[in-house]
Amino acid sequence: MMASKIQLEQEKTFFTIIILLGYLSCKVICETGDCRQQEFRDRSGNCILCNQCGPGMELSKECGFGYGEDAQCVTCRPHRFKEDWGFQKCKPCLDCALVNRFQKANCSVTSDAICGDCLPGFYRKTKLVGFQDMECVPCGDPPPPYEPHCE
Ligand SMILES: *[C@@H]1O[C@H](CO)[C@@H](O)[C@H](O)[C@H]1NC(C)=O
Repeated sequence: MMASKIQLEQEKTFFTIIILLGYLSCKVICETGDCRQQEFRDRSGNCILCNQCGPGMELSKECGFGYGEDAQCVTCRPHRFKEDWGFQKCKPCLDCALVNRFQKANCSVTSDAICGDCLPGFYRKTKLVGFQDMECVPCGDPPPPYEPHCE
């Protein structure tokens, strides 16, 4: 009598776990499975196109595949910019100091920084194919020959 009662309890627990697992996997697959890459699911269950943000703005959280109902357009974080309307995120601004160049224009939320010439004591190393690297390198000792920047 006692043994069958315990067994019944165990079976109840077992089925509760199965139903819970079924519910959880459906919550993930059923609710988000059929919204597309740039769609979120609203409260009525419809897939809605994610918001596109204007220049200088991006969504406050990821939006797509059913998620992001409460995503809002917010201004780019410091040292990031976005030039156009669209789904894309703000990109990090160029850091002219990091590539040893003068700064011709500061970064704003809608435009990247513009770097100028090499800082004194640095020069542009021409690659074999003629491609000029963004980064200016130190002149060194001795300086490279025929390099006006290093005289
Ligand atoms: C960039 O901003 C700094 C600090 O606000 C300012 O001192 C500097 O003149 C600006 N540079 C340019 C190129 O506008």
